[in-house]
Amino acid sequence: MDMYLTTEDFREMMRVMYTDQQPYTLGEYEGIPLASEVCEIMDELRSFEVRADDCWIVTYPKAGTTWVQEIMSAVMHDGNLEEVNKSHSMLRVPYFEQTFPEELPTTHRIADEMPSPRVIKSHLPGQLLPPQIWTKKAKIVYVIRNPKDLMVSFFHFEQMLNLKGAGLSFEEYLGYRNSKKASYGSWWDHYLYFWKRRHQPNVLVLRFEDLKRDLRGNVEIISQFLGKALSAKTLDDITEHCSFINMKNNPMTNPDSLLAADEIPGRSFMRKGKSGNWKTHFTVAQNESMDALIKEKLHGTGLTFDH
Ligand code: A3P
Repeated sequence: MDMYLTTEDFREMMRVMYTDQQPYTLGEYEGIPLASEVCEIMDELRSFEVRADDCWIVTYPKAGTTWVQEIMSAVMHDGNLEEVNKSHSMLRVPYFEQTFPEELPTTHRIADEMPSPRVIKSHLPGQLLPPQIWTKKAKIVYVIRNPKDLMVSFFHFEQMLNLKGAGLSFEEYLGYRNSKKASYGSWWDHYLYFWKRRHQPNVLVLRFEDLKRDLRGNVEIISQFLGKALSAKTLDDITEHCSFINMKNNPMTNPDSLLAADEIPGRSFMRKGKSGNWKTHFTVAQNESMDALIKEKLHGTGLTFDH
């Protein structure tokens, strides 16, 4: 991917797209709010040529995408971290629906040219992914995170990159993000699409909270799912490579430099990396109304969240 787009190109684009106060508009595709530029290429994205050996990391944004994509990329490199560290995670793992200014190819066209096996990232809801994912049975890792922590993480992220929710108070943001009007649609529909398919052999559903509790165990689960029999030492090394502090300190895994987020004092993509950070953000009333929403939307599905 580096041969099409250098790290400097990417950084400059992000700076222009996000930090230069570009207007960010949402359109709609099959009832799902998506960035207008994404809506324009959705038909093309749907007919993307999937390969049976593709590994997809699919999430609702802020659920732990960057973390798990890095684990997957390291696993698919058989734990060769020297090779992994030669290019940035965001260039190694193309963000499927990312659009770029006209003179540059969109990410899915870049992915077309990438050698197999590819690790591809997408935030699209399951029903909008290319249907070939299901017919070719490409592997999908899906990550679920406690929606309260998701709210906090997303709130800070949208402020940082001046996205749709920037400028809203946390209270207003909760109203926006907990609605079907939010970009990528509602988190509960997004989660439930994969939760219902969690027993399919080509689907692995993971929890952010489980990764926090036992990263090594989850690295092993991921490598087995991706069909890699890695040694204990290699699994240890990948675990170490993917700890929060190491990913934050590694310029090849911390998105700050590529997102030009390091131009904004005090802000970082690698913010806290914790479970339960919501407790310092939610008021008692906000917590109660979030609990009621979670109960209403997930009732009878078997999907629950610890406090
Ligand atoms: P916080 O904002 O709560 O810190 P995504 O990649 O889906 O956008 O998710 C970003 C969230 O994952 C951020 O959460 C970020 O800090 C966290 N994260 C990224 N890498 C991590 C790691 N190695 N360990 C723990 N959390 C990580």
